[in-house]
Amino acid sequence: MRLRLRDERDEVVVLDKLTYAGRRENLQDFESDPRFSFLHGAIEDPVAVAAAMDGVDAVLNFAAETHVDRSILEPDAFVRTHALGTFVLLEAARERGVRFVQISTDEVYGSIAEGSFTESSPLDPSSPYSATKAGADLLVSSYRHTYATETLICRGSNNYGPYQYPEKLIPLMVLNALAGDRLPVYGDGQNVRNWLFVEDFATGIGHVLEHGVPGETYNIGGPDECANIDVVRRILELCGRDESLIDHVTDRPGHDRRYSLASEKVASLGWSASTRFDDGLERTVAWYRDNPWWWEPIRSGAYREYYQRQYGRSLERPAP
Ligand code: TYD
Repeated sequence: MRLRLRDERDEVVVLDKLTYAGRRENLQDFESDPRFSFLHGAIEDPVAVAAAMDGVDAVLNFAAETHVDRSILEPDAFVRTHALGTFVLLEAARERGVRFVQISTDEVYGSIAEGSFTESSPLDPSSPYSATKAGADLLVSSYRHTYATETLICRGSNNYGPYQYPEKLIPLMVLNALAGDRLPVYGDGQNVRNWLFVEDFATGIGHVLEHGVPGETYNIGGPDECANIDVVRRILELCGRDESLIDHVTDRPGHDRRYSLASEKVASLGWSASTRFDDGLERTVAWYRDNPWWWEPIRSGAYREYYQRQYGRSLERPAP
């Protein structure tokens, strides 16, 4: 949205439930832009959806519960948002003849030891998060087949960058490293993720919105893969901390070993990622270092309870 308002002159309506990771602060740069409007509501609420869809050309469903660890603790919100929410949005798109882009995830394919998943690989999700995202993808495809709705699906790999809630690996580790707190690495730290800078994902989705073939699915993977322990080591280095802060903690149940996407199909539409992981990570660390106004309220609020529950210990307050 940030890029579309800046580069494409689109008008954008944001419908957001503002649960915890969705925050009004993330939108403050556009609040006075006449091409931007905000509606507070849930995608599973047909009244809110009808108001948001009034007069639009396309709908992009970014709305999701996204954190695997939370889906293990409390799966219900994942079923509600991904299954019911996607259904309500699809119905509204069908009634109005509006193009529909589903923002999905590489996790619907499950884990892969070697090689990469293509769009025709079977779905084999393993957590309540990925299983409900896979269910939503299937529902989206059914609207193409059954009602000829113009649907498209984008399956992204692990995103990172500014404004990401610090429950995800990279922002969590950056903020802990900046504060001099311990960095909780699950298991042996050898799990591999395919890292995609958030602006690259945004341009990839924009490409699919404009040039994608209705009914098709497009993988949008990052240019680099990296084991978690190496991600954490790079963050420590960028923050000027040593490896004594690394804390190997109990592994996540059912922890997927490796995700990897083949992105040739979206490349054939003319898209490629422009940010390599080393650069993107440096930019991300700099952003968190320079924007404590954004994360301080999170680290001092309800997030502390989540942290205690997830890691079994309290979050140290950042040094003043
Ligand atoms: P995460 O950012 O939760 O994304 P996903 O599970 O969707 O890939 O986690 C990325 C990787 O980092 C994953 O292998 C789990 C691991 N991880 C840790 O080792 N420690 C942590 O505290 C977190 C949040 C994740």
